[in-house]
Amino acid sequence: MSPDRPQNPGCGHRVVDYLRMAVTDRCNFRCVYCMPPEGVAFKPHEEILSYEEMAFFVEAAVDVGISKVRLTGGEPLVRKRLPDLVRLIAAVRGVHDISLTTNGVLLPDFAGELKQAGLSRVNVSLDSLDLERFRVLTRGGSLDRVLRGIEAALREGLEPVKVNAVLMRETLDELPRFVELVRERPIHVRFIEWMPVGGCGPQSADRPVSKDEAVAALEALGELVPVASPGGWGPARYFRFPGHQGTVGFISSVSDHFCGDCNRLRLTADGRLKNCLFSDDEVDVRRAVRARDRVATIAAIRESLERKTFDKLRLPGRSGRGMSQIGG
Ligand code: 5AD
Ligand code: SF4
Repeated sequence: MSPDRPQNPGCGHRVVDYLRMAVTDRCNFRCVYCMPPEGVAFKPHEEILSYEEMAFFVEAAVDVGISKVRLTGGEPLVRKRLPDLVRLIAAVRGVHDISLTTNGVLLPDFAGELKQAGLSRVNVSLDSLDLERFRVLTRGGSLDRVLRGIEAALREGLEPVKVNAVLMRETLDELPRFVELVRERPIHVRFIEWMPVGGCGPQSADRPVSKDEAVAALEALGELVPVASPGGWGPARYFRFPGHQGTVGFISSVSDHFCGDCNRLRLTADGRLKNCLFSDDEVDVRRAVRARDRVATIAAIRESLERKTFDKLRLPGRSGRGMSQIGG
């Protein structure tokens, strides 16, 4: 941390410098582990922060140490004119990195405009490379469009391009296909342990796949050489098969207890600050933001950070919100 950077309160020696901001709770997919088949009740439009309100929030957050912003959802690109929001955030002094987590399906349409607006890079959620399985897991999504979205991101230089693949028993036999993908393309696939959040899961939820199991399956395919993160700040650990363009990584949110390194603050699309994915604890910041009250906005951020425990095992309970409503 540079000496002129503001210090967050109440977080021991850790600096919370990373904001995950959900821009919508809506999505054009219905992934089995994220939403129930009937979908979830979306928040009415008036409860969702406007882009101007989000940019105001980011300005205030920079004052408490935030320098990196990730846009999440729901699916961020289903919200109208997302590049406008990227442009507003890129204009905030002190923001050094803007990234996007997307299901990729609208990237062929938006990658160029997002890059021009100031987006640094994308993470694309992609859990299966099998056409039919992908359709089932996303309840109707088109794998072909997502793959085209990834190529559009690479073409526009929204790099490093990372792929998030949630580990599920249903797709465990596809690890070699993901390895093939990173052999040929400079893509970084992160295998994520499925987390029991929001009350839904894959059919195999009672037999989750651990990082160790995935590592063992990958080690059977060749030598996994540990490498530095291709860029970004998170709990993933990366490896490269010699000669491959991309890497594979693991996010062991369940089997490893990495809360102690957590550097993130979360804002939901309806203006609530969450200090942990697993916590019900929320601080309402919408009123302060709508009043353009910088002091009250910063006070709300501080309050949320002070309650950050860095230990999910000590938190009171699981959030009633599903992943699409928190922002992952
Ligand atoms: N467990 C693990 N990962 C999840 N994601 C969504 N729900 C879960 C879950 N229950 C992933 C999405 C996306 C990222 C933000 O989180 O696939 O890539
Ligand atoms: Fe949408 Fe992502 Fe949830 Fe799938 S995991 S339904 S793409 S928000």
